[in-house]
Amino acid sequence: MIRVDTLTYSASAMCANLCRLEDDFRALEEAGCDELHFDIMDGAFVPNITLGPDFIKAAKACCGLPCNAHLMIADPARYIPRFVEAGADSVTVHIEGCVHAHRALSQIRQAGASPGIAINPGTPLTKLEYLLDFVDRVLVMAVDPGFAGQPIIPSAFERVRILRDNLAYRELNAHIEVDGNIDVQNAAMLAHHGARIFVLGTSSIFKKDAASRDGGLAQAFTEFKKAVDTKRRAL
Ligand code: DX5
Ligand code: ZN
Repeated sequence: MIRVDTLTYSASAMCANLCRLEDDFRALEEAGCDELHFDIMDGAFVPNITLGPDFIKAAKACCGLPCNAHLMIADPARYIPRFVEAGADSVTVHIEGCVHAHRALSQIRQAGASPGIAINPGTPLTKLEYLLDFVDRVLVMAVDPGFAGQPIIPSAFERVRILRDNLAYRELNAHIEVDGNIDVQNAAMLAHHGARIFVLGTSSIFKKDAASRDGGLAQAFTEFKKAVDTKRRAL
């Protein structure tokens, strides 16, 4: 289960070196990374195509990290059973992709996984209002989904704060996760606004050359985590 007191880090498999996933997953696990994040794209909901349930199955076979499936696909409810069968511990669906979001979230829970709802930068937060009771996490997209390496859309900070206040007011325990351009500065600021789970991609541990330096990915992860803590203390 995700910890609340400290920050939780979910490493984006899409941003890893696809030629050495096993080594990278194991290195991340040993370094204390909390989760693997699988960006699943279908070329319809977003203009890119990536990964699928077999990647999660392979990850579960070679490391002990929990796996989160972030489904950026049209009508994601169709594929929930496939991802849970593949070993996804949690499944996140987009509010924009679901005709019956509540049903999709119930399906995830009934299948034995932890449900999450994701929201794009342009979608009003009020769309989530009647779903917050049914999720373990809310994924706030800080960029338009589809590609790694995009700059943060600054409204993400305010959206996280509003969501945090809303969850607190309603005494709900869902965690706020943010995906997109999570570098040290953004992670610290978003944590300050109430986010607790961060997707690590090309802005942090998979930054060009970061993983190929001495110490590799494990060191890149440890250094990033330390830098965020330092930055948070300075805020
Ligand atoms: C967007 C992707 C990215 C990625 C995170 O759809 O989900 O946000 O995994 O990586 P960077 O750090 O490149 O934004
Ligand atoms: Zn993602």
